[in-house]
Amino acid sequence: MIEPAQRIKEIPPYLFAGIEKKIAQALARGEDVISLSIGDPDLPAPESIIDALNGAARDAENHRYPSSAGLPSFRRAVSDYYAARFGVHDLDPETEVVALIGSKEGIANLSFCFIDPGDLALAPDPAYPVYRGGTALAGGSCYIMPLLAENGFLPDLDAIPREVAERARVMWLNYPNNPTGAVADPAFFEKAVAFARRYDILLAHDSAYAELTFDGCYAPSILQIPGAKDVCVEFGSCSKPFNMTGWRLGFMVGNAAAVRALSTYKSNVDSGVFQAVQLAGIAGLRDPQPIVERARQVYAARRDILVDGLNSLGWSLSKPKGTFYVWAPVPLGYDSGSFAEEVFEKTKVVLTPGAGFGRFGEGYFRAALTTEESRMAEAISRIRKAFGGFVF
Ligand code: MLT
Repeated sequence: MIEPAQRIKEIPPYLFAGIEKKIAQALARGEDVISLSIGDPDLPAPESIIDALNGAARDAENHRYPSSAGLPSFRRAVSDYYAARFGVHDLDPETEVVALIGSKEGIANLSFCFIDPGDLALAPDPAYPVYRGGTALAGGSCYIMPLLAENGFLPDLDAIPREVAERARVMWLNYPNNPTGAVADPAFFEKAVAFARRYDILLAHDSAYAELTFDGCYAPSILQIPGAKDVCVEFGSCSKPFNMTGWRLGFMVGNAAAVRALSTYKSNVDSGVFQAVQLAGIAGLRDPQPIVERARQVYAARRDILVDGLNSLGWSLSKPKGTFYVWAPVPLGYDSGSFAEEVFEKTKVVLTPGAGFGRFGEGYFRAALTTEESRMAEAISRIRKAFGGFVF
């Protein structure tokens, strides 16, 4: 019998793989499913980006192997974007930027560069599952940093025992935060950078949702903190700001040794991003504001429909300032799995159970705002019809 390696036997299937299967089965039965599950924008990639792809796809130069670190022009565009957007002017495109086949790829692979079997990473919980998944695949384990509502969904760095901090090789952070929607301020980043410096930890900040903030809220880059590059890398993504999830384009910037390590790893396992996709990404990075401003307006309007709707059913949620997710407690009498299941059974509205993001996600569900306003309103109306209201 063909046996997979232990690491594959031990890793659970990806959270959204299971949910997608459930949705596909319901659609095959002809059910009218409203998915508020995976964060996959329903908006199209902008014309400027599609035009750039079209032009680049016709140039045979782009049909050849790309460099796995990324086109110099793409890396330059990332560095210029950091200067314009965050005032981070000193990113060297040659040594401090690497292109990724989507930030998920780089996040998973970074662990292979810094985690040896038995090593420890510090990971938030609830969180995007890839921080823990990548660590586990590399043979490491995670010390969990709980993200609690009473701390604004920021980890309490002072609560991490000294011996744990001394053992840790990598610390994962993610703001604006998936799944909670929390946004971190520079004071928290300063504290996190100081912590990473004190214990010689590589601080890996996932900044995929940096452009998706509302109500005048500004999401800083961790690289704005003086000296951050000594210990930090930051992941960026073209997926969420430019509606390019299927195109697979992201980047990692920051600490040169980490960029070199990931580039070395990647040159052994992949052959880079299709150059035409990188050239299209440049079109977004060179003029992002009109694109992201429209996206912010769309998501804010959907957020208001969903949050106001849930509040009319008994919740008392405040409106998230970042990401396109609403993170909400489940009503009395449910856990996250039973609530998502019953809502799906009765309404065909798909929510993501909070426990899918980790132990501290239990008691919550996540709803993504990547479905149009009328469907969002329809989801609320189906839930109202099926349940009336809820007690907390
Ligand atoms: C999500 O949390 O919905 C993710 O962004 C989906 C993913 O990247 O796999």
